[in-house]
Amino acid sequence: MPLPRKVFLIGKVAARTGISVSAIRHYEAEGLIKSMRDQGGRRVFAPADIRRISFIIITQKLGFSLKEIRAELGLLPDGRTPTKRDWERMSRSFGHKIDDRIKTLELLREKLTGCIGCGCLSLKKCALYNTKDIAGQRGSGPRYLMGDKPAT
Ligand code: FES
Repeated sequence: MPLPRKVFLIGKVAARTGISVSAIRHYEAEGLIKSMRDQGGRRVFAPADIRRISFIIITQKLGFSLKEIRAELGLLPDGRTPTKRDWERMSRSFGHKIDDRIKTLELLREKLTGCIGCGCLSLKKCALYNTKDIAGQRGSGPRYLMGDKPAT
């Protein structure tokens, strides 16, 4: 495959994205990005890889796993620079997952000082909302934080 008109050495990509060279190598080993070799045999990246890496950084901060991120990046074309339309298509799919994360974060913000239905029964409020851990009858995890409503 011919090299794009503009390519960046791994050190330049690290400087621009703010992550280490070893992190970039790790992302490549995980199949999230793909380097090329220039005429001198040096590892180089296309400008679009900076965007991919930025996407990885942000989505990791949002709590997505590398496996989930790989699945999303896999929706982009391989072997050519993704277009705006390619990113839009991927964004629509991923947008629903981001919406779910936002809802969970909002619930966490609202309920952090109250009972979250985790079964600890450590707050006075738990005796009101989660007597004898009734939330635990619905399954594992912090049930009220996961969207279950306390019984009325
Ligand atoms: S906060 Fe854990 S059961 Fe209420």
